[in-house]
Amino acid sequence: MSAVIELKNHLADQLVSDVIEGYSATKLSELAAQYGTPLFVVDEDKIAAQYQALSSALPGVKMRYAIKALPDAEVLRHLHDLGCGFDIATNGEIDLLKSCHIGADQTIHTHPIKKDGDIQYALGFGCRIFVVDNMAEIDKFVDYKSQVQLLIRVNFRNQDAVVDLSRKFGCVLTHVPDLVRHAQNLGIKIAGVSFHVGSQVPSPYAHVEAIEMCAELFQSMPSVDWSILDIGGGFPIEYNGPAMDIESFCQPINEALSLMPAHMSLLAEPGRFIAGPSAIHLMSVVGKAHRGGRTWYYLDDGVYGALSGQMFDHARYPIKPLKTFDITNPVYPSVLAGPTCDSIDVIDEDKLLPELAVGDLLVASQVGAYTMASATVFNLYAKPKSLCLKAAAMK
Ligand SMILES: Cc1ncc(COP(=O)(O)O)c(C=O)c1O
Repeated sequence: MSAVIELKNHLADQLVSDVIEGYSATKLSELAAQYGTPLFVVDEDKIAAQYQALSSALPGVKMRYAIKALPDAEVLRHLHDLGCGFDIATNGEIDLLKSCHIGADQTIHTHPIKKDGDIQYALGFGCRIFVVDNMAEIDKFVDYKSQVQLLIRVNFRNQDAVVDLSRKFGCVLTHVPDLVRHAQNLGIKIAGVSFHVGSQVPSPYAHVEAIEMCAELFQSMPSVDWSILDIGGGFPIEYNGPAMDIESFCQPINEALSLMPAHMSLLAEPGRFIAGPSAIHLMSVVGKAHRGGRTWYYLDDGVYGALSGQMFDHARYPIKPLKTFDITNPVYPSVLAGPTCDSIDVIDEDKLLPELAVGDLLVASQVGAYTMASATVFNLYAKPKSLCLKAAAMK
């Protein structure tokens, strides 16, 4: 019952203000009419606001945006203009930077496993900092030792993270001394350590613990010229529930970072925090049916498209109808399904919605990260169109 009241209050708000997710519903409808749906819209001003919020919450930490989260040329250009650097993992990501005329000065190559050709490609681009987590990977740098500095990725498992990024990559901390000695024997410079405590983490304590353990490691190997600590990503955003605000999240991280020697360069690789809140996705109802006591709405995009993060990133996005309703309208248990022929392509099975019509629009929010990046063309549905706009164009 309370969900019904909540929905009606929300609809009432919409009725009064015509504002949805901070944007004008009328402007969003106009964009949908102009460009068609599905339409993925990035708000350039939110990209800037998220970047600035994280930069000011982590003073002294240089940002290297994880391109994989939302590999969009406009986003990269905008972040570059703001002074942000980039975490690259593939030749394709390098090509995207090149196409934006962004140089390599503020890049790090974070993929722990690379082909020789990948290393050569990144070196040709001008990238000089690479991540490794095992001996075989260190060996690949013998021919390039005069050009590179390596970071050793350490694995800190974190059960609380929504996405565990230490299962597949990273060495255990106790293995670092062996890797350092191996590199030294080959004449390859180890500059520091990187870690990623997992994506969308609920609290900062995994970061804090990892930083403290890195500080102990650095002290235990004083002969190494440790100059870089890279604390990865993981900074959380709100989806359907609250997330810690970024200032509070980063405060204990800053305290832990104060243990680091002053000369050390501190890096972070945020993806989700910058990209996630910066995009909305407009979809249309293309069909409806009554089945099993519920109304099924078939939309023109779903989990194979820009909502692919539901499959790959364990995310659920807030989704609302765009049109305004009289609050006396009844609401019904409804299902939102994507357009493909696969029955896994269901976005929400249990949503209370007013009666929608074919052609009505829905808006999904917080969809910037790990969504378009992993969208497929299954059934040969084209990927959604994507726009990057100033907020004013939607207000
Ligand atoms: C190496 C690396 N760095 C940074 C990120 C970005 O993490 P997040 O989106 O949690 O900030 C990822 C995510 O997969 C990653 O694998």
